[in-house]
This record gives sequence, structure tokens and C-alpha cells, in this order.
Amino acid sequence: MTSETEDRAYVPALGQHWMTPFYDAAIALTTREATWRTALLGLVDPHGEDVILDIGCGTGSLIAAMKAASPEIQIVGLDPDPEVLVIAKAKARSRGHKVEFVQGFGDELAEKLGARAINKIVSSLVFHQVPLDGKRSTLQAAFDYLPEGGQLFIADFGEQRTPLMRFLFKTVQRLDGFEFTQPNADGCLPIILTDVGFSAVQEALVVPTIVGSISLYSAQKGGM
Ligand SMILES: C[S@@+](CC[C@H](N)C(=O)[O-])C[C@H]1O[C@@H](n2cnc3c(N)ncnc32)[C@H](O)[C@@H]1O
Repeated sequence: MTSETEDRAYVPALGQHWMTPFYDAAIALTTREATWRTALLGLVDPHGEDVILDIGCGTGSLIAAMKAASPEIQIVGLDPDPEVLVIAKAKARSRGHKVEFVQGFGDELAEKLGARAINKIVSSLVFHQVPLDGKRSTLQAAFDYLPEGGQLFIADFGEQRTPLMRFLFKTVQRLDGFEFTQPNADGCLPIILTDVGFSAVQEALVVPTIVGSISLYSAQKGGM
């Protein structure tokens, strides 16, 4: 089910707006959240002078984990949905975390954020909800926005490699729609990452869950 903001459609966090208040509980219950978020945190390794952008930050769970791991880092959370941003802001405030939140889509980084010294971009559980051309334009925008040596980290439903995972992933596909989710299940993300210019594209981990497998990808712009 798509929703609209500023005349653009998007899929809300749990497929439908009325389900947004249940998002955090649903993700914790169904996705082995602690396993993949901890692994993602390890990959991102937030520290020191990092300025990190979270594309499709949703209710701000990854931001909270990154800030808890390294309070001195700067973080910007971007999401088109004003409803999840209210939850994300409350989560950050309740933990005493200073975070900037911006309403916008992942392919409008330059317009929404202007020039910033962002050196890492993260995104979790977003691309399976984005149409194929939006996956590409968002990954292109991430590549264009990062400086040389900048890094991108994604956790999302990736290639569903076994009949069991393909079957279990249908739960997510029924919620978020088959058209946007199927390219992820067919393994499109690493291909697009390479196409738009990223190097060192790796699928670092695959976490099987009761709603399909979640892959962790890392990539970088240029040499390190
Ligand atoms: C399943 S939620 C994931 C939220 C959060 N990243 C997490 O790990 O829990 C997907 C989020 O992506 C946002 N979203 C959908 N389309 C988007 C787009 N084109 N660009 C950026 N965010 C988008 C939705 O509003 C939603 O908050």
C-alpha cells in the first residue's frame, strides 16, 4: 500500500499507516532484529568524527543504536513519512541523543541536505519498499553525495536463495507489495550498487528469519 507526501508515493514502515505504531514490536518479533542490527553496527563502526546519514530512518532504532555505541558522532535521519519521524524524534529525545531529522526521499539528498561532510550512509529495511527505478536513483544519489572514500552500509531483505526463504518472504511481499519487493528477492541490490559506481561491494552477512533472509551489504566510493 503506497502513501503520499509532497505528491510522491512511498510505502509506510509496515505497509499501511495504521500499522506504524506497531512497527518496532513487529520488527523485533519477526526479524531477529538484535542479530542483524548488532552485525550492521559492527560493520558501520560508528566513531569519532563520523557524520552518518540514515536513509529511511523510520522510527530511529538504528540511529539510537549508533548513538548509544558512539555518542560523539553526528547523525542525520531522513525519511519521507512525517509519522515515523515523530516517533524517531521522541525516541532520540527520550535517550538524550542529539539527532537531526529531515523529511525527504533517498534520491533527493542534495536538495534536502545541501552540502555536508557525511562520510557514511546507512539504510536498513528500506530498499525492498522502493520501486526499482527508486532503488537505482537512491543508490546513485548516495554515490554522488558521498565523498571519495565514503562508505555505504545496507541491511535489507536481499536475495532469497532457498525455496523456504522465498516462501517465508511472501509475508513481507503481501504487506509491501510484490512489484517493489521482488527485485530485492532476485538479488538486485549488489548489481545496482556496482552499476552506479560503488566499489568493494560485498554481501557481508545473510541472516535467515521467519519472514525471509536479511542481507548486510557494504560498499565504498573510490579507493580508501
Ligand atoms: C521498513 S521501514 C525501515 C525503518 C528503519 N530504517 C528501520 O531499520 O527500522 C522503511 C522506511 O523507509 C521509508 N521510505 C520508503 N520509501 C523511501 C524512499 N524512497 N526514500 C527514503 N525512505 C523511504 C518509509 O517511510 C519507512 O519509514
